[in-house]
Amino acid sequence: MWHMLLQISYGVGCYLGALTLYRLFFHPLQKYPGPLLAALTEGYEAYYNIVQFGGLVDELVRLHEIYGPVIRIGPNKLHFKDRRAFHDIYTNGSSMLKDPAFYHGLIAHAPDSSVYFCDSKQSKDRRALLAPLFSRRAVDKLLHILEERHNSPSTSIPMSVSYHSLTTDLITSYCFAESTNTLDIPNFSHPLLEGVQEVVKGLWVQRYFPFINRLAMGLPKSMLLRLLPEFKGFVEMQEGFSTKITELRKEFPEGFNKVDHETVYHHLIEPKNQARPTMKSLVSEAFTLVIAGSDTVAHACTLGTFYVLKEAHIRRKLTEELEEAWPDKGTPMSYAKLEKLPYLSAVIKETLRFSIGVVHPLPRIIGNETPAIAGLKLPPGTIVGMSALFLHMNPDVFEDPFTFNPDRWLAEDTAEMIHDLAPFSKGPRMCIGFGLAWCELYLIFANIFRKLDLSLVHGDEVDDFRWSTEHRDYYTPHWKTSYRAFVNEKVRE
Ligand code: HEM
Repeated sequence: MWHMLLQISYGVGCYLGALTLYRLFFHPLQKYPGPLLAALTEGYEAYYNIVQFGGLVDELVRLHEIYGPVIRIGPNKLHFKDRRAFHDIYTNGSSMLKDPAFYHGLIAHAPDSSVYFCDSKQSKDRRALLAPLFSRRAVDKLLHILEERHNSPSTSIPMSVSYHSLTTDLITSYCFAESTNTLDIPNFSHPLLEGVQEVVKGLWVQRYFPFINRLAMGLPKSMLLRLLPEFKGFVEMQEGFSTKITELRKEFPEGFNKVDHETVYHHLIEPKNQARPTMKSLVSEAFTLVIAGSDTVAHACTLGTFYVLKEAHIRRKLTEELEEAWPDKGTPMSYAKLEKLPYLSAVIKETLRFSIGVVHPLPRIIGNETPAIAGLKLPPGTIVGMSALFLHMNPDVFEDPFTFNPDRWLAEDTAEMIHDLAPFSKGPRMCIGFGLAWCELYLIFANIFRKLDLSLVHGDEVDDFRWSTEHRDYYTPHWKTSYRAFVNEKVRE
């Protein structure tokens, strides 16, 4: 017995020794600089992401200072801080695939959904189903839902959760034709909101240990909740979505005709040119759409509102523009007109520059045909990525990048900045909801600043946004200190 154990240990030792030598001296990426530990093991990345909750991005900032624009951040992985690399990796027509080790772990709670798919055929099919729902044309269908809500603004106090409630209600209306009405729940404590936060909290552990999630999903509910109570939010969301989708399936097609706007699930339940998605895939897609569609927009609103309230000159310019363009705030203002307002547009662009949807690098795999990345021809199979944070905070393109300055977008030539503004990523896997997100941001900012008189609660101000401490999540992070604002409805002129 001991003899066998010794032999096994010897075998494992030899294997690890050979692997270490290979990764350090013979691996095709061995010439790229970076920490020794990162070249040896994925554990380097895992440590920062799990123990420091998405803290890899902070570490990347530090490492690029030391090692320059290209670093080896895993045995088979490079990270860039070079705008050329960003545009080479995330580009239209690219055949680079998403890295399954990353996405299948991170999205283990929602397999077979749009973000999860790494295979290009599966992704294309699902995007083909969803795309019409998120196109500019279809955004009109959302407008009346939004306008109704904004015509009766409640006195939102903790800004982050109130925006989360609002964006959750909007995305659930958009998906199911029935809002969850989280705004109606006192203290913004709707279980769906709490469920989303719990799922988001678990993302980093499941990224590196997806089997926990898979095992958990196979257990009976009572046993799962006894063993792992942190899955409560996930289980409740799963049950809620399953019930809703089962109802929708039963109502199909008669029930759908009663609804005055088309919904995402109209398309998904009974697709015209594709096989029906399974129930598991439909539920997973609900997770994906609700989380991706609420957290991101809510974070952008929270961040943008904070800066507008904090900087008196920004607030004055914005409200003056809105009052002039929208004299009678009692009548709804069209999205088409709002989009043409230069200062409102500048505030939203600057908000999106700061509030990047996904701050973690989005890993892609180099294929046989992949062209050079920032001039480097890399071996097939190499995983590459660049966090959009390095693009958005690049002083060569955005002067004084850490200052929230909407005026930069009013300069005569903004082409280079526009090119480098990529909050929704770029290329074949860019955000599918970007049209919806722009629409929400225009309507929310315009209505909030035209109709409400907000002020930051005295003594409750948070420090300025700092990338190194605030951007700690896969999804847009939440401020550790959320702020509150007084809300006074503006007297009707
Ligand atoms: C300010 C708001 C938003 C930002 C900044 C944002 C950002 C992003 C980014 C960066 C990605 C790429 C992720 C990756 O490659 O891993 C993405 C993907 C995605 N987003 Fe958004 N997003 C926003 C709003 C929305 C909305 C409103 C929806 C609607 C449901 C949505 C749905 C999706 C989906 C389904 C994907 C996956 C697409 C795919 O993998 O093919 N997002 N988003």
